[in-house]
Amino acid sequence: MNAKVISFVNMKGGVGKTTLTINIGNELAKKGKRVLIVDMDPQFNATQSLLLYKTRLVNSGEANFDNEEVLVNQEIKSTEYYKELSNNKKTVLQLFEKTNIVEPLPNSGLDQKVSDNLYFIPGDLKVSKEIPGDNANKVGVLTKHFADNHILEKYDYIFIDCPPTWSILTHSSLFASDYYVIPSKVDLYSSIGIKLLEEQIDEKITNDTVYKMTGRKLKRLGVIFTLVHKKIKAEEDRMKYLKEEFRGDIEFFTSTFPHIPSISTKFIMIDEVRENSTYSELVNSAEKITDELISKI
Ligand SMILES: Nc1ncnc2c1ncn2[C@@H]1O[C@H](COP(=O)(O)OP(=O)(O)O)[C@@H](O)[C@H]1O
Ligand SMILES: [Mg+2]
Repeated sequence: MNAKVISFVNMKGGVGKTTLTINIGNELAKKGKRVLIVDMDPQFNATQSLLLYKTRLVNSGEANFDNEEVLVNQEIKSTEYYKELSNNKKTVLQLFEKTNIVEPLPNSGLDQKVSDNLYFIPGDLKVSKEIPGDNANKVGVLTKHFADNHILEKYDYIFIDCPPTWSILTHSSLFASDYYVIPSKVDLYSSIGIKLLEEQIDEKITNDTVYKMTGRKLKRLGVIFTLVHKKIKAEEDRMKYLKEEFRGDIEFFTSTFPHIPSISTKFIMIDEVRENSTYSELVNSAEKITDELISKI
């Protein structure tokens, strides 16, 4: 195996980065691919979702979306598990600390198992506080972690959930990536963020001397429209407008990710509602986006 590393990035938050990262990752895991999700966002939402999902899988007998008591108990269990991981320095914070105590030995990485083929490296709220101002020397930390722990050999895909700002966290994520995708809401202002992101990537990665010396080439896979209000003419018009604005510059995925009002309260992974016809549009869209992403690689 030689994992393909893909960053999910946008300068804006709330655009579906985390939702797509964990769900496309899970889709591929279900197809038998080995997937690692790296949570680089200090908001660590991917970590929270994956831990809760894991708790549900482990206690599958309890799976009952309507029983509040069971749901709260699962949240408590997963929160306690997270505290243990954080106390044991098993999060991305470790990568940025001055003395890296993670020994480059087999099985000593930070990967945590979610299910058979799905693993993740937990995020940490503390990274936003503890990363020093002068961190130019940290750009390669993720690349080095992958190399030291033979991580690329263990997985088919590594998905990085990036923070919604430009910092060493995003920089080191893209530095370690082969590809990136831009999840974006259908919002006429979103083009400002996309342009800013492209400028940053040109300056800090593509045209950077140190990056050029690595001989690597970060490739953009394009924009995925998320939280799309389907069957609304104005939404179609907005998508058309945005595509027109970027014609010749930026690619767009054909498949889009629909807005589903009850998504955050009912389930964590789309896979949990695969058999529920209420969510068939969401399920289909996750499958299509996954196929399209893979076909672009
Ligand atoms: N298909 C969807 N329909 C409705 N809400 C969604 C959908 N996907 C995600 N959300 C919600 O939108 C919010 C932002 O999504 P998230 O993936 O966390 O974005 P980001 O990582 O870019 O900040 C979350 O509250 C999430 O539950
Ligand atoms: Mg997020």
